[in-house]
Amino acid sequence: MPSPSTVVLITGANSGVGYATSKVLASASAKYHVILASRSLEKGKAASEAIQATGIKGKISIVQLDVTDESSIAAAAKQVKKDHGCLDVLVNNAGVSSKAQTLKGQLETTLNTNVIGAALMTEAFIPLLLKSSNPYLLYISSGLGSLNLSSDPAHFDYRIDARVYRMSKAALNMLMVQDSKNLEEHGIKVFAVCPGLVESNLRGQGQQERSAGGKARSPEESGQTILRIIEGERETDVGKFVHKDGVYPW
Ligand SMILES: NC(=O)c1ccc[n+]([C@@H]2O[C@H](COP(=O)([O-])OP(=O)(O)OC[C@H]3O[C@@H](n4cnc5c(N)ncnc54)[C@H](OP(=O)(O)O)[C@@H]3O)[C@@H](O)[C@H]2O)c1
Repeated sequence: MPSPSTVVLITGANSGVGYATSKVLASASAKYHVILASRSLEKGKAASEAIQATGIKGKISIVQLDVTDESSIAAAAKQVKKDHGCLDVLVNNAGVSSKAQTLKGQLETTLNTNVIGAALMTEAFIPLLLKSSNPYLLYISSGLGSLNLSSDPAHFDYRIDARVYRMSKAALNMLMVQDSKNLEEHGIKVFAVCPGLVESNLRGQGQQERSAGGKARSPEESGQTILRIIEGERETDVGKFVHKDGVYPW
């Protein structure tokens, strides 16, 4: 029996954007059941308990999910099928900006997680999304993945190098465009979403890195952007690369 709730699975939800989005959705309405996916069950459990302690209206459950491990993805899909029979929203949020010593190491970790992991997640969860009456598929991208902005000397991000991370998000955007075209006829609404510059562990765990030298905003802003998308407030932007206030150029 399909669940009456709006079931949302968020990868990498023990921290940063994923954690804040889980909290925003679960606080917004009793209709949301957030499946907080974390590669570490311990971190997932701690995150879930911290969110529940804030007095949410919706529900939270946790699932172990490493997006670079196909058996972990398959086990999570099986669990969601058993517990809910369908999935209404998949948020492919897990991401890294690898600090590996070698270029090859950076490429392998970053592309494996940010691109291959997201593509395999979508492949595994499409059958469950197809069972939803109003399915959404969100890829958490970054303005740093825009080819237009990264080649525009007038843009404030022009001088940020982040070569491998930028490559991964540009590739992710192409994955989103292809999925959006292919899934449109099945009613799945696909978006690439830039969460904005927000506090998280992406740049490192020290306070300077977490806050991007004081420039980063609250990740709950990212959660609000995602909430608006799945509440149907951005339907004219399906298939686009959206941010809080509009749409980015490719
Ligand atoms: N923060 C920003 O300013 C910003 C801006 C633009 C885009 N983004 C995007 O937002 C998304 C979330 O990042 P964040 O900023 O919230 O950083 P974060 O705090 O580092 O969170 C990243 C999450 O992804 C998880 N993760 C990493 N590798 C994984 C894997 N193989 N399988 C499953 N989960 C994995 C991490 O788990 P662990 O805790 O176990 O490492 C963590 O939960 C990323 O896609 C990032 O590119 C962030």
